[in-house]
Parts: sequence; structure tokens; C-alpha cells
Amino acid sequence: MFPLKRNRRLRQSGAIRALASETVLTPNDFLVPLFVVEGKDVREEIPSMPNYYRLSLDNVDREVKVLWSLGLKAVLLFVKVPDKLKDNKGTEALNPDGLMQRAVKTVKNACPDMLVMTDVAMDPYSSYGHDGIVENGQVLNDETSAFLAEMSISHAQAGADILAPSDMMDGRVLAIREALDKEHFINTGIMSYSAKYASAFYGPFRDALDSAPVDLANVPKDKKTYQMDPANRIEALRETQMDIDEGADIVMVKPGLAYLDIVREIKNSVDVPVAVYQVSGEYAMLKAAAQKGWLDHDTVMLEQLTSIKRAGADIIASYFAKDVVKLIL
Ligand code: PBG
Repeated sequence: MFPLKRNRRLRQSGAIRALASETVLTPNDFLVPLFVVEGKDVREEIPSMPNYYRLSLDNVDREVKVLWSLGLKAVLLFVKVPDKLKDNKGTEALNPDGLMQRAVKTVKNACPDMLVMTDVAMDPYSSYGHDGIVENGQVLNDETSAFLAEMSISHAQAGADILAPSDMMDGRVLAIREALDKEHFINTGIMSYSAKYASAFYGPFRDALDSAPVDLANVPKDKKTYQMDPANRIEALRETQMDIDEGADIVMVKPGLAYLDIVREIKNSVDVPVAVYQVSGEYAMLKAAAQKGWLDHDTVMLEQLTSIKRAGADIIASYFAKDVVKLIL
């Protein structure tokens, strides 16, 4: 009798669909990005990221306690640096009492078991909005890597558990690993943004941190000489393998949704955890469509995050983390 197999049998009820489900989201999947600013009791909504906020340290303290109570156990910290502290060399990033260093301590005080990851990159500190030192219209590679190694030590000294270099300089993972080991931070990990594309989906994030490349003569207008060409797939494998060889504990693909082919390919070829960053522009698109009533927010959010996990993400950095755990708990 035709058909012998009926695939619809396993779709007949919520109960059977739940049993047959291949992919389940849990709070353990998520990494929560937090934007930190100076000040007291600051909770500023980011215009291009509805319902996402820049928080002062007192509110970071409150927020991480809420996250912990929801089962979210890891944060990824970013800081918004006042203009007057920015320069071409990112000097403020090394200040032992800088905002990032204080933010790490704030989280650890509020929630000692929370895993603290820090963004290791110069752009929030750079007067030119670049992830490296600019000279004669170029972003310098090796000088920047050496600087990122120093920055990493400073974050490790403040108490960061995992450093997340998001810059895409060549060789920076090795520079960071060697510096950490030399300073005896043998248990401090590295989550490298290994396949990070030069994407226009980062726009809202650059609004949040005021970190976009500036429009000045002799300053590159974009990040295409260090972030990857969205057209490339094989190069993503090469970048990722290189970071693993240099000592990365976790690798990352970024952005998420538009790059799930890359996620699957990397997941199939490496033996370290693969993180995916569902970036600010992805968040903004759904928020905007939902505000217009064009998409159902929660259903689309779940579908997108499930797709990212199905593609091979072991870890998902997402601005939806808090919203989604409230739905799935
Ligand atoms: C910069 C950095 C960026 C993001 C994380 N780290 C932006 C950029 O490369 O310009 C983007 C994250 C997002 O869009 O959510 N080092």
C-alpha cells in the first residue's frame, strides 16, 4: 500500500512533536551581551535596538542577578567609552580602573558564579572607530595584536574568565595566549571571533557604543581589510582553523542567520565549541517588523534561535536571550 511511510505520524500532536524534536533551546545555550556606560542609575534604551539598554554599573549589578535567576550563566561585556578618553592607540583600554575592568568586578561581586566574557577590541576606545591602530590610511596588524594582548592581561587581572577578541587581526589569538600564559593566567580562556564578516548588520551595535569608523581623510571608511568578505566560505574554514591552532578554546561565526551555511560547515570540521553571534541588525529587523505588526515577535524569535542551534551553534550570543528564556522556562 502506498505510502508505507507516513512522516506526518510524528507530527500529529504536540506531545509527539516534542518527543521527536531534534533541537531544544535551553538557558545553557545563551551568552548575554551587555552594554555598559559610566554614570549612576543609567538605563538608556538604544534607539535602533528597542528594549535593549546601556546600563551603568549599579544597573549591571541588578541585571546580572536577574539573568542568573533566569538560568542565564554567561555575559559578554561591551563598554561605551566617553569621546574624551578615545585615541588612536586605545590607551584607555589598559586603565586598570577603566569601565571594562570595573564592569568585570561588578559582575563578579553581584554574581560570583556568572561566567564573565569581555570584548577584546579597540574600536570602542579608538578615536577613529577602528579595531586597530591606524597609520597612513592602514590598520596595523602586529602592533594591534600586541596591544590586544596587553588589553587581555588587563581584563584577566580584573577577573574575566574568557576573553573574546572581536577584531580579526592575524595572529592575535597566539599573541593573547602567549601573554596570558606568561602572566600565569593559564585558566583564562579565549573565545575568538574567528569567522567575522564585514557586515552591515552591525549598524545598531555601532549606534549603541558610538563606535562606527569616522569619516576622515586617511582613515579607512570600513572594516573590509580585516573583517571577512561575505562572499567567502573556504576562507572561513581557514580563519577558524588558524585560531584553533593558535589556542582558541571556542570559535565563533558572526553574524548568525545569514551565515548558517558557514556555521554548519565549521561545526562539521572542528572539535571545539562553536559560538554564533546573532547580531544587533538581526535583532533590530525583527523588532521593527514586530512593531509594525508584520511578524509575530515571539514565534519568529524562537524559530530563528532554533535555526541557529540546528545549524550547529553550541553557544548563541543573542540580545533575545532574556526574552527567550522567559518563554521556554
Ligand atoms: C567590534 C564589534 C562589533 C560587534 C561586536 N564587536 C562591531 C564591528 O565589528 O563593527 C557587533 C555586534 C553586533 O552587531 O551585535 N569589535
